Amino acid sequence: MKKSSAARWPVYVALFLLVAFAVIFVVEFIGASENPVRSEPAANLSADTYLDIVTPLLVDADAQNGETLLTTYECVACHRAGAENGIAPAFVGIAERAATRRPPLTAAAYIYESILHPTAYIVEDFSGAMPQNYPERLSDRELGDIIAYLLTPDAH
Ligand code: HEC
Repeated sequence: MKKSSAARWPVYVALFLLVAFAVIFVVEFIGASENPVRSEPAANLSADTYLDIVTPLLVDADAQNGETLLTTYECVACHRAGAENGIAPAFVGIAERAATRRPPLTAAAYIYESILHPTAYIVEDFSGAMPQNYPERLSDRELGDIIAYLLTPDAH
């Protein structure tokens, strides 16, 4: 009896390790699938992946709240309509411009990228001054609302 239980301990160790690795794998997998693209460098994304992410964000998005969020997150400190301050492009006409900025990205995909991966494309005549911490600061809901607002023809 004693001999056989002692002989079994490598089996227990192996089982323990197997369970431990399985738990680590599941935790990592769930953690990563929570937000697969926020942490992804823009260079790894394609027009299709962008579309896959942006389309769900826009379902039920509230453009009016998006306009409010531009003030909450101080986007308008740099992106100022009327008084062009030279710091950032004004949002006037953004929906139209966004559609042709970076083909084959759609307007929504381009705006999404501009907010989360601002260095992927720097608008001509501007510096890369756009803050890079919006992936941590904005929730999916807020991001959807902002994009929806910027896609309206009267965004400013
Ligand atoms: C500190 C100044 C600053 C703040 C704050 C800022 N941006 Fe920007 N943003 C810029 C600059 C500079 C550019 C142009 C350079 C570039 O392409 O990164 C830009 C570019 C953009 C573009 C692309 C515009 C175009 O015409 O192609 C979008 C969209 C945008 N920002 C959205 C936002 C949103 C939404 C917020 C707030 C959540 C925000 N920005 C906050 C400076 C800022």
